[in-house]
Amino acid sequence: MSTLAPDSLAPLLTGAYGRPYAYAREAASTQDMLGPDAPHGAVAVADVQSAGRGRRGRVWQAPPGSALLFSLALRPPCERRRPELSLVAGVAVADALEAALGLAVQIKWPNDLMIDRRKVAGILAEARGDLVVLGIGVNVNQTRAELPAGTRVPAASLRTVTGVERPRGPLLAAILAALERTYDAWRDGGLDAVFAGLGSRDFLRGRRVAADGQTGVGGGIDREGRLLIDLDAGGRYAVEAGEVELAG
Ligand code: BTN
Repeated sequence: MSTLAPDSLAPLLTGAYGRPYAYAREAASTQDMLGPDAPHGAVAVADVQSAGRGRRGRVWQAPPGSALLFSLALRPPCERRRPELSLVAGVAVADALEAALGLAVQIKWPNDLMIDRRKVAGILAEARGDLVVLGIGVNVNQTRAELPAGTRVPAASLRTVTGVERPRGPLLAAILAALERTYDAWRDGGLDAVFAGLGSRDFLRGRRVAADGQTGVGGGIDREGRLLIDLDAGGRYAVEAGEVELAG
């Protein structure tokens, strides 16, 4: 098992994220390892979580040492829309994974990272006053048998997709560097500044989808970060937040 202990990771860090860096072999959830005063860029990592959480009350599980499980403290300026942070993080993780794997990574609005129609990573943004704790789980070295079965979106790991086991440290460092670069672009220029990396990776575009009781075909992501649905009944519907199902 590759290690994410501070001594191993520190030499790999190229930017400001990951300072400070909290590491636990086991934690309930990395989301709870960052306190209310965590500075922008602070990172918490665990090798295994006993109560890892996903969006909408779901659990997030991975065998010890198999995945990247980490949380990042962000303090966005008040003029930026916080819900966009999941998309910003999605672009960053997709950039880093594509560079590492040489494979196309898509973003299933609002927070799933997909390769070959399977989910390899998820993002959970929790706001606490001025602080946003961005939790990211990347399935790295799980075997097929170790992935959760019967999930809403079928799961994959980088290993099941590429056949290659890889050390997690360099991948974590690359994702943190991409997060810093992408966040800075968003902070300075809003969603427009990262939109090229989002629109081109839209997994739901052209697929049949259902949300908020509306059914139609994914019509893209707009400049406010909303998912557009071209409705069967005619017209267009913009989904602000929440859950989208693949339909039929
Ligand atoms: C989702 O797809 O529903 C979001 C999954 C987010 C999982 C990560 S793992 C690290 C961090 N700690 C948690 O408890 N959850 C996030």
